[in-house]
Amino acid sequence: MKDRLIVALDYSSDEPVKQLVTSLDDSVSYYKVGMELYYSVGESIIHYLKEQQKNVFLDLKLYDIPNTVAKGLSALTRLGANMMNVHASGGSLMMQKAVEAVADEAARLSIARPQVIAVTILTSMNQEQWGQMGHTSEISDQVVRLALLAKESGMDGVVASPQEASAIRSVCGDDFLIVTPGVRPVGAAVNDQSRIATPSSALRQGSTHLVVGRPITAAPDGQAAAKAILEEMEGAFK
Ligand code: C5P
Repeated sequence: MKDRLIVALDYSSDEPVKQLVTSLDDSVSYYKVGMELYYSVGESIIHYLKEQQKNVFLDLKLYDIPNTVAKGLSALTRLGANMMNVHASGGSLMMQKAVEAVADEAARLSIARPQVIAVTILTSMNQEQWGQMGHTSEISDQVVRLALLAKESGMDGVVASPQEASAIRSVCGDDFLIVTPGVRPVGAAVNDQSRIATPSSALRQGSTHLVVGRPITAAPDGQAAAKAILEEMEGAFK
């Protein structure tokens, strides 16, 4: 289960990251580096996490023409992250080129190929904003459609809310990553998340990886919080 819990490092400098990683120690093995941290600190933060033997999900959500995304991901592959992502709405050619570029660069460097996953529709999008953009479909239908397109384009999985996980699982099959934020243990502060699930229900709905930030990073005892979440994850299928 440790490989399936990803702690979000939502910071703008490396000091709090190093403090957190040191304090969480062996209880957490996978971290997410997003735009704030990566654009503030740069690639040194990836090197630091790799030196600490941690897995890294580099959450930069690339979206551009296929050639540009492919070249960008190829450059990022050299940093050694384990997982990276793009927007599925970039289309199937963009996703195919993305996976190909990552595979080629990893082979050239003789390193394991990082997994590449797709963001379907941002969970901050609501039906009203969706309609303003000229769409007439239901967001939930579009999420499943884009997840299937991602799978057919060779992506390893998608980022999705826990509520979307079971529909995606039934359409995309077993061998597909579903990485879900919006996870809150019972009793934890909801913060600004809305469509939340507990760690065990997210796993039961088909999530393979849980992204958890503040329930661990803002806890008085982060290690205890991480261990409690891992225990709940272990119990999900008992
Ligand atoms: O602190 P919290 O557990 O809410 O952090 C969740 C993490 O997942 C944050 O880094 C947030 O940006 C990210 N995320 C999210 N919802 C999405 C995509 C990413 O909460 N749809």
